[in-house]
Amino acid sequence: MGTLALRGGKPVRGTSAKWPTWPMSDSGDAKRMAEVVKSNRWSYDGPVEWAFAEAFTKYVGAKHGMCSANGTVAIQIALEALDIGAYDEVIVTGLTWQATAAACIDVNAIPVLVDVEPDTWCLDIDAVEAAITNKTRAVIVVHLYGCIADMTRLQSLCKKHGLFLIEDCAHQHGTFWKGQGVGSLGDMATFSFQESKVLSSGEGGFNTCKTKQLFERLYSLRNCGRGYKDDMTNAVQSGNLRITEFQAVILEGGLARLDAQVKKRDVNAQYLTSRLAEIPGVLPMRRRKEVTQQSYFNYALRIDAKDLKIDNRVFAAALNAELSAKELFEPPYQPLNKCDLYKPHTKSRHRLNSDYWKAINPKRFKLPVCSDAHEKSGVVVHHAALMGTKKDMDDIADAITKIVDHVGDLKASKNGAATAKKAFKARTRW
Ligand SMILES: Cc1ncc(COP(=O)(O)O)c(C=O)c1O
Repeated sequence: MGTLALRGGKPVRGTSAKWPTWPMSDSGDAKRMAEVVKSNRWSYDGPVEWAFAEAFTKYVGAKHGMCSANGTVAIQIALEALDIGAYDEVIVTGLTWQATAAACIDVNAIPVLVDVEPDTWCLDIDAVEAAITNKTRAVIVVHLYGCIADMTRLQSLCKKHGLFLIEDCAHQHGTFWKGQGVGSLGDMATFSFQESKVLSSGEGGFNTCKTKQLFERLYSLRNCGRGYKDDMTNAVQSGNLRITEFQAVILEGGLARLDAQVKKRDVNAQYLTSRLAEIPGVLPMRRRKEVTQQSYFNYALRIDAKDLKIDNRVFAAALNAELSAKELFEPPYQPLNKCDLYKPHTKSRHRLNSDYWKAINPKRFKLPVCSDAHEKSGVVVHHAALMGTKKDMDDIADAITKIVDHVGDLKASKNGAATAKKAFKARTRW
């Protein structure tokens, strides 16, 4: 197939073939948005918000649900609703967006970072078990990119040790485990509706929970502390974490399209996986047999960096070049023990005492699998690509085949490694 595009050759796919873009909307969204604008009802427990909350809760299969300002504060109020606070330990995956751990610090708890499985990048349940102490109150599991942890084992581990199980579902609106939606598998769950997410309103969040008591507490926490149905005898300390009717109307449109989009991505992802499985030096991620529908906030894969003798940044840069894409491929998140945006020691309000200060130092945790994923083996494909055609998946697989076949040229590339590393250093948006 000739010279690699990164070395000046003809790319596998030219610029005339366009990749799908994200987020998506339709004329119905615009029409309903105009109605909300005219309605004089823009916020505060609005009818569109609650209609959406009910529909999304039903889709997920959760008992109760409500909107909140974003996925970060959704985690914070989930912890607060469970009365998790000062010095409590919460087990958190080491490979996630920083918000999962930052929310724990913001309630004065101690995030205990644990490593992930190499073939799912989700919580390694052995590592979770090893991290449990008499101070542990909860485990936050993140269903990362297009994979899921062993939820059956995690559920029984939490039950055995009396721990709360919180699902951070920011990546996986529409994944089903043994027919049950993620967001209904633990005591509490949170979602993000930030712009990049597969269900989005630009910004926004969602909480689900198992009991009416937790629901009412969450309601107060997102609504300046007011008791549910204005019952002020149950008022608590909190702030304004509500969303607007403008966001809700966009979410209603997105929810109407969500399941079909999830199914389309799932079909494309499974086809791509079948093609990648044939390419030497490329390792698709594991799909657990219990998954009955997989939602993809991006598609992850690994390269055998040792075998190919290049790292993931060079590989991702070569892929972007072959597919005439600017930022469709990149390495996964930085591990939280080396993350540019997870810096608990930059705020003096976290200095509760010297033991706490030490306990929240991310550097004390060892996360070799997370590091390997970010620094060497992991490549992540933006989920917009999965909204394309089978031919688009073939283009990705053909580009990967070409890179593997010509990997020697990349190693010899003058500017290869240095340029690629620089290009990815500042990426933090998804
Ligand atoms: C895994 C995970 N958790 C939490 C969040 C936080 O969501 P938000 O950006 O809506 O605050 C994100 C957002 O990227 C995320 O990816």
